[in-house]
Amino acid sequence: MRVLSGIQPSGKLHLGNYFGMMKPALDLQDQGEAFLFIADYHALTSVRDAVALRADVRDVALDFLACGLDPERTVFYRQSDIPEIHELAWLLSIVAPMGLLERCHSYKDKVARGLPASHGLFAYPVLMAADILAVQSDIVPVGQDQKQHVEVARDLALKFNQRFGQTFRIPEPAIRAEVAVVPGLDGQKMSKSYNNTIELFGDPAATRKAIQRMVTDSKTVAEPKDPSACKLFALYSLLADAPAREAMAARYRAGGLGYGDVKQALFEAYGAVFEPFRRRRAELERDPGGVERVLQRGAARARTEIHATLKAARRAVGLE
Ligand code: ADP
Ligand code: TRP
Repeated sequence: MRVLSGIQPSGKLHLGNYFGMMKPALDLQDQGEAFLFIADYHALTSVRDAVALRADVRDVALDFLACGLDPERTVFYRQSDIPEIHELAWLLSIVAPMGLLERCHSYKDKVARGLPASHGLFAYPVLMAADILAVQSDIVPVGQDQKQHVEVARDLALKFNQRFGQTFRIPEPAIRAEVAVVPGLDGQKMSKSYNNTIELFGDPAATRKAIQRMVTDSKTVAEPKDPSACKLFALYSLLADAPAREAMAARYRAGGLGYGDVKQALFEAYGAVFEPFRRRRAELERDPGGVERVLQRGAARARTEIHATLKAARRAVGLE
């Protein structure tokens, strides 16, 4: 089984990214051949600052390595080190119906949020399909918001195979129900665009303050509460182990629990998960060329796979 996922280097990674995409992808490292890449071509649809882009690519790479990505087991690379992806995107674009792309929510949402309505933004799902199909991945771990894009990749693979003969494996999104949408500090989906994130490696004091500001309902301390209706509990559940989660749920139901105490427990659970990663990240940062070496080696490994796919696709359409 082949697993692939990608992430845009366009800002500080947060708990939504971690539980929605990073952890599911890292957990699959042992269950087959894993590919993970930094989608810097995609990021150009929103990032227009070369210095920031370079810094973000390095930061995302460090974040993944710190959180447990093992570059021996996972092929870890930067998208732009493999420009052949664009040739594949072109071959897919000729079977990509306009209507299918016009239905993509992400394009409409991004334009509604003020991003320039460029051709790149519109064609984004075709490039994403090329990423996925290039390595013949079976499974694509992503958060709920990317499901439609993986379905576009599926559709394009089916269309291409039907028209030109069997060339691509048909991928499937892997979305964990319990983390499909990680809530943010204001209760809506955690997203850097909504300014409601808990960063993975932010300043701990600022993170504590942000958690303290989290929105809750106005129930008094004494009142029993329903844990399943509380976003604070949802976040705590992701970070705590099963016994701690059960104990917290029981305290909710019993009454006598204030939201301040839950926020403190949430902050501690966050520290327990991310402090070891933070220490590892600091160690990795001490080797300035280390990240680049890892990415170059990953690109060389990914390229072998991608060349084979591209050759098959070129032959199928008659370019070779
Ligand atoms: P953002 O919304 O902060 O811009 P991205 O769109 O770059 O995040 O998402 C990167 C990856 O993280 C995607 O696979 C996405 O599905 C996942 N992801 C982002 N936010 C969440 C969330 N709140 N819940 C679950 N998954 C998420
Ligand atoms: N579109 C994804 C996001 O914004 C990033 C991405 C690009 C991706 N190509 C991919 C994810 C291929 C999975 C597979 O999060």
